[in-house]
Amino acid sequence: MDAQSLKKLREWFKKNSAELPWRPIDLDAPRDPYAVWISETMLQQTQVSTVRDYFTRWMKRFPDIETLAKASEEEVFKYWQGLGYYSRARNILKTANVVRNSTRKATLPDNHKELEALPGIGAYTAGAILSLAYHQREAILDGNLVRIFSRLYALDFLPTESKVALKIYWDYAREIADSSKAYMHNEALMELGRTVCKVKNPDCANCPLHSSCRAALEKRATEFPPSKKHTQKDWHGTVLVIESADHKILAVHGGQKFFKNQFTLPHFESPRSATAGLPSQAERYVDADMVQSVENIGKFRHSITVHKMECDVLYIRLSGKAPAPTSSEIKWVRRGQALDFFASNFCLKALSFLKKN
Ligand code: ADE
Repeated sequence: MDAQSLKKLREWFKKNSAELPWRPIDLDAPRDPYAVWISETMLQQTQVSTVRDYFTRWMKRFPDIETLAKASEEEVFKYWQGLGYYSRARNILKTANVVRNSTRKATLPDNHKELEALPGIGAYTAGAILSLAYHQREAILDGNLVRIFSRLYALDFLPTESKVALKIYWDYAREIADSSKAYMHNEALMELGRTVCKVKNPDCANCPLHSSCRAALEKRATEFPPSKKHTQKDWHGTVLVIESADHKILAVHGGQKFFKNQFTLPHFESPRSATAGLPSQAERYVDADMVQSVENIGKFRHSITVHKMECDVLYIRLSGKAPAPTSSEIKWVRRGQALDFFASNFCLKALSFLKKN
């Protein structure tokens, strides 16, 4: 996001930020990491309007980590009652004890690695603590930011679709956090998502980012982010691990659903309830008379672009040595080299069952 838009965002936030019990009047003041941790954990599955009172009551009874660590789980649950997802409360108490007994004297760590090692603290909460409390240049990505980035840049995919998709969203989040005002950019975007860039009826006319928002300019804000149903295509398939008697595994190039430009394990679409025996598609690659055994050795999930896949892994053992390839689209790879040869996670997942076999 350009500097001008970020400036508009900060100005909007200074004018419009709601008064909330965990938010200091002076928006530039560093905050108590403990208060950020508690409020952001409460806010993860619960609306701001509900969290307000819970947070205030909590902080009265447990004003710091020391006090919290000494409390019983029963009492902590009482203060959580109604917020749901009780594992959050249990983890908070566990973390309070870990932190109290650490060398830090009841202060939350100030880096990702140590924070995320604590029960219940993931990338989001760690990013929130580091930016909002410690004023570090750390990014956060929550549902609000995902919706905003999807609209700003007209991203027609969700971060949950693939690793690449997730990285694209995080890169946008890191871009706005690469600033001494990361704390304000992060919180302003969350507030914007909650009050303006809403799921339904986004108020584009009153949005400080309107002029740089692709979806708004094209009057398509509500088309983003795409719904899960729209983007995720289920694909069920079978992956073949074909091994010859001299311990070579068949790799094929081209003619496959995925990985059209590299060698891969043969695979094809198949019904969920695969029949036993040699599937007819496998006869493209092996002579049925050479097949010694066919065994279903595992099942894995994998995402490629918009495809959410579930694959059965069939291990086909041949009775003879690997036949000489009849085309350049076939290669027999020594079993010991297979993990290096097949670079995709898709193939590595399938081959992992072989190792255990
Ligand atoms: N949602 C979650 N955390 C928030 C925050 N700090 N400000 C506004 N909305 C939020």
